[in-house]
Formats: sequence, structure tokens, C-alpha cells
Amino acid sequence: MTHARVDRTPPAACDVAVVGAGVIGSAVAWRVAERGLRVALVDDHPGCGASYAAAGMLAPVAEASYGEEALLRLCLESARRYPAFLAEARAASGLAVPHQTRATLVVATDDDDLRALLVLHRYQDELGLSVRRLTARDCRRLEPLLSPRLRGGLAVDGDHAVDPRALVRALLAAAVRAGVRPVPHRAAGVVVTDGAVAGVRLADGSELTAGTVVVAAGAWSGRAADGPLSGLSTDLVPPVRPVQGAVLRLRGRPAPDGLARTVRGWVHGSPVYAVPYGDGRVVVGATSEERGFDTRVTAGAAHALLRDALTLVPSLGELELVETTARLRPCTPDNAPLIGATALPGLVLATGHYRNGVLLAAVTADAVSALLTGEPSPDGMDAFCPRRFAGAGADQEVPA
Ligand code: GLY
Repeated sequence: MTHARVDRTPPAACDVAVVGAGVIGSAVAWRVAERGLRVALVDDHPGCGASYAAAGMLAPVAEASYGEEALLRLCLESARRYPAFLAEARAASGLAVPHQTRATLVVATDDDDLRALLVLHRYQDELGLSVRRLTARDCRRLEPLLSPRLRGGLAVDGDHAVDPRALVRALLAAAVRAGVRPVPHRAAGVVVTDGAVAGVRLADGSELTAGTVVVAAGAWSGRAADGPLSGLSTDLVPPVRPVQGAVLRLRGRPAPDGLARTVRGWVHGSPVYAVPYGDGRVVVGATSEERGFDTRVTAGAAHALLRDALTLVPSLGELELVETTARLRPCTPDNAPLIGATALPGLVLATGHYRNGVLLAAVTADAVSALLTGEPSPDGMDAFCPRRFAGAGADQEVPA
């Protein structure tokens, strides 16, 4: 990775302005401030974007997809870092972050679903990933609330889950304790002076001076007209588009009466998951729809999620429905994130995490803080360089 410059614009109000206080931006701001840089975190609604809807699955193996092996390696690396990341976030913030470490179950409802499950298993096996094939009876032994009508499943011992809202609260608190200055404004653009980043233009017209700007604004990172990169050449606006995910939040009793572990599955071809946090709360998700920047939950989406989740775990129907939420996954053309320096000196991206924002927060924060402090970056980060897409300024010279 090329090292971004942090001290090129004196006098700087801060060294680094991070735009976007979701799970990625908060983690980045905290890690960078821990290394001694002066950091501002710009967001008018911290923690209210995609992180607010996320279920928090740490599921590199269950979510492995053909052709996305580099992404899988990054997800596995981030999962490996997660226990330490969480322990440090808890210690630095003084806040609890529920972490579900029971094996994830992946189950099939009908014969076609079972075929899809076996294809996934074969692929996981080829990659040497640790997955156990289970009969329907084995599945119910592990999770007695599962429907007796399932066709079989997989157990993924290493796929876990975290409460993402608690995590974001902890990361924000840890960031503030490390000296991060929250800036409760919307970022309306990047200030460029003499061909390099000089700060962030805020929506009220004021400017925040910073030698480096890290854009972690999720789906808004790709909005050329009015996003945080508006005003820049369109070559510098990354190809990130919103993909809506709707989830339902339910509340009932904790295990053993309630669901004890994450259950994912196919129900007549539709994917669905139910993620418990150990205290009776369960998130059911998620739809995946290209609806632009629309965050309304349709009746059809809520119906489909409940229908499919109750097919897998009928007793979920007895829980209180406390929330319907939709947010926007930031998707790139290859489904992989954009992490690193851009062609504009001082502009760094940490966005485009699509389905894996919570999982990838650990490795992304470490990669960006390494980039900004000249430390060695995690292995394999070149595959996620923002300049891999032609439209992201790949033809321009990047300073060392
Ligand atoms: N990773 C879960 C989702 O995107 O719905």
C-alpha cells in the first residue's frame, strides 16, 4: 500500500479527518488516534447507517462465494483478529459488546435447498475450510428450536456474531477516549489545495483542515452529486452503489427457551438468517434489493422475512416484533471493499464493504492505521486497492 501523508497541510486542525462514523469509520478513527495522530470523526448521525441494520454475523465461511477467494482470505484474516479487536474495544471503552461464539448452523428446507447447501459445502471443502455436515437430527440436537421438517445442514464452528450496535457504541466511546474529536456535521466535499487534500467541507459551509481524509461513508461514498466526495473529478468518486437490506428485530426469552445460535438457511431458494444476541433479542434478515437510496421497509419484505424465518424456527413467531429497519449496503463491482490510498494525495478510502462491514472492521482499521503511520499493512491488501477500478483515477500518479 502507498503511504498517505498526514502532515502536509500546516497548520492542520487535525491530522486525519474520518468521514462516516459507522462501524468502519469509528474503528478506523479509534485505531488511528491510538497511534498518536489527531483525528476528527465527521458524521451528523453516528452509527445510523448500514451498521444500524447489520445483524453482526462474523461469518466468512458460511458467506464464502465462488470467485471471491481474495475477499474470503480478507474476511478470515479479520475474523482471526476479532477476539483481540473486541477485547481491546471493550477495555478501551468500558462497554460490554455481546459476542456469540456458538457454531453457526446452515440449514436446507427442501431438496433444491439441500443441493445448494451441498454445493456450498463442496466449495468450502475444496478451500480447506472447517465445516461439519449434519443430518436434520444433528441440527435439531444442536438447536432444538429448529423445524423438524428440515433436510439437513452444516455447522461452522468458526462463524460467530457480535451485537453491531453495541460494537459501534464501544468503538465511538473508545475513539473519544483516545482523543478523537466528533464533528457532528454532514461532510459535503473534500477541500483540495495544490493538488492534494487539505480538509473536509462541511454542509454548513465551514471547513475542517486535515492533511488526510479517510472516506468511510458507506453507500454515500459513491454519490458524485452530493456525497462526501462531491466536487472532485468523477474519476475519484468510487464505484459504490447502495443495495438495500431490510431486517426485523424481535424480542423474546434467552436460551434455553430462546434461540441459542445463529441459524442461516435457504427456504425454497430464498436465503434467510436469524441471529440471537444471548439476551432474548434476535435479528432476522435480510432482503437484498437495488432500490437506490430508499430505506423504506416494504410490507412484502417484512412478510417474506417472517415467512422464511418461521419456516426454519417456528417459535420465532411467538416473539415480539420490535423493529423493522432497512439500510444500504455499500456494494462495489466485485463485491470487495475499497481500502487504501487513491490517486489524490491525502485521500484514503475505507468503504464498499457490502455484506461484510462488521466482520471487516477489524482488519480495515488495522490496514488504514498502518497506512497512515507507515507500519506494515496486513497481507493481501493490494487486492482491495481503490485504484483497481479504472474510474477511480487509476491513470494518475500516486505519491510515495
Ligand atoms: N452479511 C449479511 C447481510 O448482508 O445481510
